[in-house]
Amino acid sequence: MREFLGLSNISPQICRLLQEIGKLGEGASRSVYVVGGFVRDLLIGRENLDIDIVVEGDAVEFAYQLAKVWGGKAQAHHQFKTATVTRPDMLKLDFVSARNETYPSPGALPSVEYGTVAADLCRRDFSINALAMRLQPNAFGELVDCTDGLRDLRAGRIRTLHERSFIDDPTRIFRAIRYEGRYSFQIVEADQQRILDAINQGVLNLISAQRIRNEIDHILSEAAAPQMVNRMCEFDLFGAVDPTWKIAPNFDALWAAAGQAIEWASISLTNAPINTRVILWMTLLTSPMAIEVVGSRLALENQLCTKLSVQTHMEHALNALSVSSKPSEVYQLLNPYPLEALVFALMQPHQPDWRAGKIGNYLTHLRDVQPLVNGDDLIQRGLKPSRAFADWLWKAFAAQLDGKVSTTQEAYQFLDIKK
Ligand code: CTP
Repeated sequence: MREFLGLSNISPQICRLLQEIGKLGEGASRSVYVVGGFVRDLLIGRENLDIDIVVEGDAVEFAYQLAKVWGGKAQAHHQFKTATVTRPDMLKLDFVSARNETYPSPGALPSVEYGTVAADLCRRDFSINALAMRLQPNAFGELVDCTDGLRDLRAGRIRTLHERSFIDDPTRIFRAIRYEGRYSFQIVEADQQRILDAINQGVLNLISAQRIRNEIDHILSEAAAPQMVNRMCEFDLFGAVDPTWKIAPNFDALWAAAGQAIEWASISLTNAPINTRVILWMTLLTSPMAIEVVGSRLALENQLCTKLSVQTHMEHALNALSVSSKPSEVYQLLNPYPLEALVFALMQPHQPDWRAGKIGNYLTHLRDVQPLVNGDDLIQRGLKPSRAFADWLWKAFAAQLDGKVSTTQEAYQFLDIKK
């Protein structure tokens, strides 16, 4: 029986674009479909602006034609027979040629040849992602479902399409967990076993650090990341990436603190944007050894690793704070640390209120204080640059932070420098 998708959830603009693509396809005697996540999320009722179009035939040539009609730009990736069209309104759409894929070896990138949409759907990761919608004018909105994806979607099942799926492409292990957590679906039992088997066979050693890192980044960007991390622990996926990688038993609390830290920073630190990704990774890598070993295994960027490891040493500085620490002492102790580490520390559940108050005051106030006197000022006043400069300047600045001086003149008096 032919089944048509309800289109009321698609914005009129996107609907019009899809109709234009269908018309152009008809004119060029090409069958064209929107596929994958867009169709899945349309059926679930979740917005998805990632538009992937499958063309039976050459998608690159088709994308160039469409870019011309729209006055946009097409960029081709000839090796994969794909192209991206950027419209003048900056909306991007991806075009792929319907293809058969073969994996020359487990974990390797596939080799590609033209095929039908049905073949193209069957090469995909899960049945819920192997759904397509026809765009040709006389069948616009018709569902193409060769793998019982709709049935799985309705039953909340994540199911691969063939038994070697996780071996051919081990990133699908992370993807399965991501979809399961995001939609509160369930990976079917046979696939849970295949995930365990694939991990035991060592498939994660066959894919690049970058691909694993990307998958973990995707997971960290999801609202249901804690459920996904929990599931990854059940499959011992972190241990499979590196045997030394253990997730902290209080991960849920760390995750909550990370969320609060990111929200707090977006409201209170508008003049100093923080890198939210650093804070998210702080929940996964909590010991100096894990940062070093996993950081190198996943080729994490140096800047990220530095911020992560600095954070693990920060406890020491925080312990040196006391209720009576003066603002200048707070400044001196906290100044060496990256903002991300401080914002994260601020939100730790065990952080006493007085300490959180001092960290918060540093972040929102002390950090922005500009010294009343600098080295050039001293030179202008006839002093010869010397090693003592740094000392004097810090003394003046500390007095300023502690509220003992509030004008330039007072600062000079404090330093006993005549005008
Ligand atoms: N795909 C696949 N195997 C992969 C990655 C992707 O079969 N390892 C297919 C799936 O059909 C997927 C489509 O390519 O739907 C697009 O991939 P991607 O953009 O990563 O996923 P979406 O389905 O758009 O899902 P989301 O962005 O919501 O994660």
